[in-house]
Amino acid sequence: MNYKEALQLNIFSTISKAATELQLETYVIGGFVRDFLLKRGDAKDIDVVAVGSGIELAKKVASLLPNKPKVQVFKNYGTAMIKTKEIEVEFVGARKESYERGSRNPAVEDGTLQDDQNRRDFSINAMALSLNEATFGDLLDPFNGLQDLEDKRIVTPLDPDITYSDDPLRMMRAIRFATQLDFKIDPVSLEAITRNADRIKIISKERIVVELNKILMSSKPSIGFILLEKTQLLPHILPELVALKGIDEIEGQKHKDNFYHSLEVVDNICPNTDNVWLRWAALLHDIGKAPTKRFSKKVGWTFHGHEFVGGKMAYKLFKRLRMPLNEKVKFVQKMVMMSSRPIVLSQDGVTDSAVRRLVFDAGDHVEDLMTLCEADITTKNPRKFEKYHNNFKVVREKIVEVEERDHVRNFQPPVSGEEIMKTFNLKPSREIGIIKHAIKEAILEGEIPNEYEAAHAYMITKGKELGLVENTEK
Ligand code: CTP
Repeated sequence: MNYKEALQLNIFSTISKAATELQLETYVIGGFVRDFLLKRGDAKDIDVVAVGSGIELAKKVASLLPNKPKVQVFKNYGTAMIKTKEIEVEFVGARKESYERGSRNPAVEDGTLQDDQNRRDFSINAMALSLNEATFGDLLDPFNGLQDLEDKRIVTPLDPDITYSDDPLRMMRAIRFATQLDFKIDPVSLEAITRNADRIKIISKERIVVELNKILMSSKPSIGFILLEKTQLLPHILPELVALKGIDEIEGQKHKDNFYHSLEVVDNICPNTDNVWLRWAALLHDIGKAPTKRFSKKVGWTFHGHEFVGGKMAYKLFKRLRMPLNEKVKFVQKMVMMSSRPIVLSQDGVTDSAVRRLVFDAGDHVEDLMTLCEADITTKNPRKFEKYHNNFKVVREKIVEVEERDHVRNFQPPVSGEEIMKTFNLKPSREIGIIKHAIKEAILEGEIPNEYEAAHAYMITKGKELGLVENTEK
């Protein structure tokens, strides 16, 4: 079969020309070919394999391009890269690779195209299109990847035990592709993943997180997490989630399975946000429930303080997985810690002051928090479902109303500490903090508006209550 139409970018004719000049057999392979056949948008990453030196080919290609781009050479890997504004092309020499068991370092030898295809992860990623002049656009598909695309199957080219132990990250890649593409992993492969799950230990956290993020960014992440659990990979990666699995029953009282609940919340949030950190928050919002779970005859199952405990756990989890410990983790922690606030608020009655406090505490993340709480509604009772959503609609409306009037989102005290000091002739002291706090509370409670005049008058009253004397010298 010929797919010339996949190769319309100018770069392909340039590569073809360079290959002819160097008399190198050359192919485009992997994700680009797969995504073209799946009609999955325009791929930006192009992998080119040459039967010979990929580095030489890259240099030749660069010399033939009008703007003479730089070639980045990775000598240790025998690869080279050319980046332009639109695309990234990676050149490799075809390899025959055999990993020694128990070692991370492959013994690499030059090989044929077929050797190179053998050592790739899945049949759908091993398809190549010829860039050679005489056969330009011909598909080379030794493992019937085309059929597997049609059948929506993830299959390894070789015995899966070999493919996965060559590079254990592929176990996660299999699950990630199954999630992104809604494909089924071949049962033999699934068994091999389960058998080799322990080997994920040798893979760097960074590479694991890349796959987790891709699973989270797909339209139905639960597919991936269920497979991670089923294959026993999840305990190595996110044991906090595994701990949420299961339903306990004492004296006829049950709690819900918080693992599946969490996955449902992630799936629910996907249509409403592409922010990967908010999706992480959805995944982790209940992790504090495992260590805080208690049963008492009086009230049944409780998870007191799980939000706070969960927030702390989220930080440790980010640290362990070498994820960013900056404002991203703070955001996730905040979402986890505040995840019950809108629910409590909507149950207790949506008063202005409660909404002001919510906006004050959540700041710019209040909409994200509402999006999380709406996704958290997983009741199967349609009446309750509608009622909870309506409650949150009221909360959202109230947020807009309170915001317009009171501007407490990024609260700046209308009276500064300096002014308090001047007014009462004070040196830095406890009283300043007390007065500032009282003003803030009065605003949040709605006793005074969030304005200078009112806050100033309130400061005078509070100061006098504390026995302070107003400085009359101006
Ligand atoms: N590959 C592999 N084993 C891996 C990683 C990659 O065999 N652990 C091969 C596959 O043939 C893959 C190609 O290298 O198609 C390129 O890898 P990469 O760019 O990581 O993935 P893509 O398949 O292009 O997919 P995506 O861009 O969605 O990550």
